[in-house]
Amino acid sequence: MELVTLRDLLPRAKREHYAVGAFNFNGYEDAVGIQMGAEQAAAPVILMASQGACQYIGLYETVGIVKGIAKHSKVPVCLHLDHATDYDFIKEAIKAGFSSVMVDASAREYETNIRESKAIADFARNYNCSVEAELGKVGGKEDNIVVEDRTAAFTVPSDVPRYVEETGIDALAVAFGSVHGFYKSEPKLDFDRLDAILKLTDCPIVLHGGTGIPIADIQKCIDMGLAKVNVGTELKAAFSGTLRKLCAELPAGEFDPRKFLKPVKGAVAAIVKEKLEAFGAAGKA
Ligand code: G3H
Ligand code: ZN
Repeated sequence: MELVTLRDLLPRAKREHYAVGAFNFNGYEDAVGIQMGAEQAAAPVILMASQGACQYIGLYETVGIVKGIAKHSKVPVCLHLDHATDYDFIKEAIKAGFSSVMVDASAREYETNIRESKAIADFARNYNCSVEAELGKVGGKEDNIVVEDRTAAFTVPSDVPRYVEETGIDALAVAFGSVHGFYKSEPKLDFDRLDAILKLTDCPIVLHGGTGIPIADIQKCIDMGLAKVNVGTELKAAFSGTLRKLCAELPAGEFDPRKFLKPVKGAVAAIVKEKLEAFGAAGKA
């Protein structure tokens, strides 16, 4: 199967009141684990690599891994560049074969954010690549981008219609209480704000910082019309936790990397399957 875009996945999800799961990966094992989990749930899936992950894996290697995974996949796979702030890098990723990108101009003021996100959306259109942008600032730390909780600004609903109209984006990340990384205290989502945003636009809305939010809260957002949920940290923790356990358990003479890494794929797949079922995406492939 060819890679699909957010345009292929999110409008249907919004219409049918489920959310597509988007999961961060940092290498081959977790990328494969994500697709395995999606296939077990028979759900479409978005594999996300941050700018930092692409630099770690190699940009063309990232595309090669996910195109290889998609080739034999029984479920639709989208390869999405997550939270990218370097516009030259985004263009290179689009040309390299990413089927979707996120331009993160959320640190800019409103007019600049519109201008810069629109420029990427215009560029991506020539490559059949979808674009997500962010309005408001999701708190916490995502890869190399840090937003202090206290300065994190929630999205202003009335800012949304003009933003979506003028940028021409395919999905919009909004800030209404979620935070990147593990929560320091109980997450409190501003459901009224999300509701106001959803009433003002048809553009599919994205929840960032999916790790640690109670599933019931995420399901409430999905019932309201949320179309994409991003999960990253939870998979990193499962990856490293599984590896740590195996290093302690396997005999000292064991040196086959596959003995260490195969269970990592399984641990990632189990979380992805569980999330996709909870998001109502199971069986939607
Ligand atoms: O863009 C990535 C996500 O928002 C991941 O957030 O690491 O808190 O799950 P998370
Ligand atoms: Zn994010």
